[in-house]
Amino acid sequence: MRSATSQALKIVIVGHVDHGKSTLIGRLFHDTDSLPDGRMEAIEKMCERRGMPFEWAFLMDSIQAERDQGITIDTTQIRFATERRPYVIIDAPGHIEFLKNMITGAASSEAALLLIDAHEGVQEQSRRHGYLLSLLGIPQVAVLVNKMDLVDYDAARFGAVAETYRAYLASIGVEATGFIPISAREGDNIATHSTKMPWYQGPTVLGMLDGFQPRPPLADRPLRMLVQDVYKFDQRRIVAGRVEAGRLEAGDEVVFSPSNKTARIRSIEAFAVPETPSAAAAGESVGVTLETQIFVERGEVMSHLEQAPMETNVFKGRLFWLGREPLTVGAQYTLKLGTLECPVTVERIDRVVDTEALDRDDKERIERNAVGEVVLRTRRLLAVDEHHVSAATGRFVLVHDYVPVAGGQISMAGYPDQRNLVTVRSTNITAVGHGVTLDARTARNGHQGAVLWFTGLSGAGKSTLALALEAELFARGYQVYVLDGDNVRGGLNANLGFSPDDRAENIRRVGEVANLFADAGFIVISSFISPYRSDRQRARAAAGERFHEIYVKAPLEICEERDPKGLYKRARTGEIRDFTGVSAPYEVPEDPQFVVDTAALSVEDGLAELLAYVKQRLLT
Ligand code: ADX
Repeated sequence: MRSATSQALKIVIVGHVDHGKSTLIGRLFHDTDSLPDGRMEAIEKMCERRGMPFEWAFLMDSIQAERDQGITIDTTQIRFATERRPYVIIDAPGHIEFLKNMITGAASSEAALLLIDAHEGVQEQSRRHGYLLSLLGIPQVAVLVNKMDLVDYDAARFGAVAETYRAYLASIGVEATGFIPISAREGDNIATHSTKMPWYQGPTVLGMLDGFQPRPPLADRPLRMLVQDVYKFDQRRIVAGRVEAGRLEAGDEVVFSPSNKTARIRSIEAFAVPETPSAAAAGESVGVTLETQIFVERGEVMSHLEQAPMETNVFKGRLFWLGREPLTVGAQYTLKLGTLECPVTVERIDRVVDTEALDRDDKERIERNAVGEVVLRTRRLLAVDEHHVSAATGRFVLVHDYVPVAGGQISMAGYPDQRNLVTVRSTNITAVGHGVTLDARTARNGHQGAVLWFTGLSGAGKSTLALALEAELFARGYQVYVLDGDNVRGGLNANLGFSPDDRAENIRRVGEVANLFADAGFIVISSFISPYRSDRQRARAAAGERFHEIYVKAPLEICEERDPKGLYKRARTGEIRDFTGVSAPYEVPEDPQFVVDTAALSVEDGLAELLAYVKQRLLT
């Protein structure tokens, strides 16, 4: 009996026809009894007539011919069902259409089957297919090692292919749910366990598929309402928008992002219904009135206080480029994100993929019909989600001269949520005025208070220079103190690690402490990687004109060669995760007050340059 009620799980099958893709699809249909009556027999007859052995691929062709037209013209959807639930295989005629649909959001999938040929082993083609999965960010992947019949169902052969491929997937950040030895042609380990491979104890293909988790229905996900407009209606202000995910009720406490304003929902106003509803859910367009009057506008995202979207002015975009002119670093476009539109700049191109050959291309530009991974930066804060968490707020379009030039998905890997940095929680506070003025402190010290903010990669020489400068200035009688990452992390910031969010909080606290020291008249030398531009900007905002950004510059290769603490080596083997420069980003200062190039200068020369800078800028 079929469970026709449950929602279909969307899957993609990635693999070359030569690796048995059509055969597998034909086999899945046959073994799940999903074929129309008489279809098998018709194909058997046809093969007989032509004097050829039965060919599963013909079955696939005949199903395809009747495919239902999918979401877009060039997506095909073919359906089959197990006892557990129905499935839809999402496919497209070529790589270009396939990637375009998947990345721009015309089609999506929750799981993937990836085929490798056991006989051929892991070839370039299979690597490219794995790479394609990494681009799509599909969370559940089963790797099917096909044509086991051609290698005598040999356990060792399967083990070797699986191991090689597992290592490759790990190198591109994909973790397979499982590896299954199969023969699609012979039906081994598809619906039932193969008697020819008693050494394999894991699930069959259908067992694995049935074990995959479906995404929760839209209404059960965190609330996301995209604000379309705010209407004034008699005395009331109605915030109108579409509920893209989740549900809301009158009385709920909500937050609008990125303005970070909170309020309680007084009422829900639906259009064209006789009675005022008390709740609404994903898919509905509604208006809400709030208990407190706050100013919100089109482009904001309404959510509950818990599970709010992230806030950032920088993110990674995996995009499909449609523009006639190529995308280049430094170019500006209009970003459309939900109901928001704002300018965005391409800061970096991380990867470019030729969609035809699925080949990696190390180019400075992304040509038409190519896929790329880029870093995009805006001036203002945006409310975003990881694409796999929420498509409505995790997908974007780039527009140039009124023409859409790209569609893409957001990834926040490596970047912090800046919400925590801008939310002010304490109220009813009044700052006290100091009796001792800053001028009095400056006059006594003979120099101004200041923050010398050293930023740069680990191993660039920040601490070495900071400590040398401290000693020099102290010897001359100045009030000076070094705040160093490795030290502060032992105390004030002992509760913080190296995740993007923790680093941002690390720098927020240090920025504030440095400002207090500067207020006290000190020359503070802060020595932190401080990899994010936005964090350094906030530290600057805290200290104002007393802030001097000093870029301690050395190329990654040199820092890695120096490796004073042996950390790069451990980062390369994967022992240390999120390591700056290796597996976490470092954003080079755009316009620092001073640069010390430690690749070119000795410690003494670097120190001399810093001393000259301090004398010129800080001494009275
Ligand atoms: S920051 O990124 O938050 O500014 P911070 O300067 O405080 O970093 O600390 C960096 C120091 O922590 C490095 O010099 C290194 O000794 C150590 N460290 C440990 N793990 C990491 C990591 N994953 N990335 C960078 N530095 C690390």
